[in-house]
Amino acid sequence: MTTELVTNIGQLITNSPGVDTRPGSERLGILTDAAILIEDGQIAWLGAASAAPAHALAADTVTDAVGACIIPGFVDSHSHIIFGGDRSAEFEARMSGQKYSAGGIRSTVAATRAASDEELRARTRGFLGEMLAQGTTTVEIKSGYGLSLADEARLVRLAAEVTSEVTFLGAHVVPAEFSGRADEYVDLVVGDMLDACSPHARWIDVFCETGAFTPVQSRRILVAGAARGLGVRVHASQLGPGDGVMLAVELDAASVDHCTYLTEDDVQALAGSNTVATLLPGVEFSTRQPYPSARRLIDAGATVALASDCNPGSSFTSSLPFCIAVAVRDMGMTPAEAVWAATAGGAAALRRTDVGRVIVGARADLAQLTADSYLHLAYRPGVPLIRRVWKDGVAVSVSA
Ligand code: NIG
Ligand code: FE
Repeated sequence: MTTELVTNIGQLITNSPGVDTRPGSERLGILTDAAILIEDGQIAWLGAASAAPAHALAADTVTDAVGACIIPGFVDSHSHIIFGGDRSAEFEARMSGQKYSAGGIRSTVAATRAASDEELRARTRGFLGEMLAQGTTTVEIKSGYGLSLADEARLVRLAAEVTSEVTFLGAHVVPAEFSGRADEYVDLVVGDMLDACSPHARWIDVFCETGAFTPVQSRRILVAGAARGLGVRVHASQLGPGDGVMLAVELDAASVDHCTYLTEDDVQALAGSNTVATLLPGVEFSTRQPYPSARRLIDAGATVALASDCNPGSSFTSSLPFCIAVAVRDMGMTPAEAVWAATAGGAAALRRTDVGRVIVGARADLAQLTADSYLHLAYRPGVPLIRRVWKDGVAVSVSA
């Protein structure tokens, strides 16, 4: 058994209610002058540094956090980081006034099909390294740029090499070779493709949107995935209002993602459900769409998560600190709500209780900031604020 005591933590964000007394940030469960004992990759004890028990003081390693803030590692519950090529020219055109459309996905499909397993592996590992250096310790990865039986199976298999949170998104768009035959493509997705992909996946997802899949097709796909034991997640209301949010709530999806155009009925349905509304600030930023109001969802009682949606088309950021800063600036979140949404909120969107919180028995997935307060994550946008990250109790130094 290896043990590490991390002490002299100026501010520890536990996301454990009841610990914190500061008005407005109660949900963060803040401890000051704290210490954590890590044993074999898990949190074994936490509390006031001055109250550390003798066995904690005798740990194999003692790490001085120099008064900095430590948060649970970010839980990025929505990414598409297995793909080939990039779409920087499409981004350039958009910044000159062109509109984002789901059709761009097909160009990434062509580049992904052309890439070797080794190229895809190296690329994905690169993004995961980027994410870790920015404090993200849990990452969900979707397929969806293969869109043939063999390529979707390849993507979920490669994703499963690096995360347990694999999502089968064979229903991302209808591939070019099925143009005008969308229902035949859905037959393939719910038949042989699901057979090949479900053993490697935990989740099924569908892009329920005009230009992608109709609510009727989406329901068929999600129900087929659920019948194979996959959890349900949905991309909905990204480009306009639609029926995807209601469908997600009805099917008890863990999360419905984007939620850029919500009706009042959508908001009320989310508030009365166990479905998390996952907002993706990088998308509105990179597509020049209006930002959704996180405030409206939170005030209604819905659970909100923040995720990167890292993908080459609509949001090519891997940075949750960036998403937090934008959500605070433009989506009506307080810094405390945004930090919670990128940690405990992401965990809720993945129906996980072992990450996103610093509590005894949780995984020792932590990020130490260069600052003494979580506020800096929103207050200092674009600045690298992560000094050290622990993933399953193993520390990685990020900056001096
Ligand atoms: O989550 N909305 C659908 N899928 C991605 C975009 C993919 C792309 O443009 O390549 C998203 O935004
Ligand atoms: Fe997405």
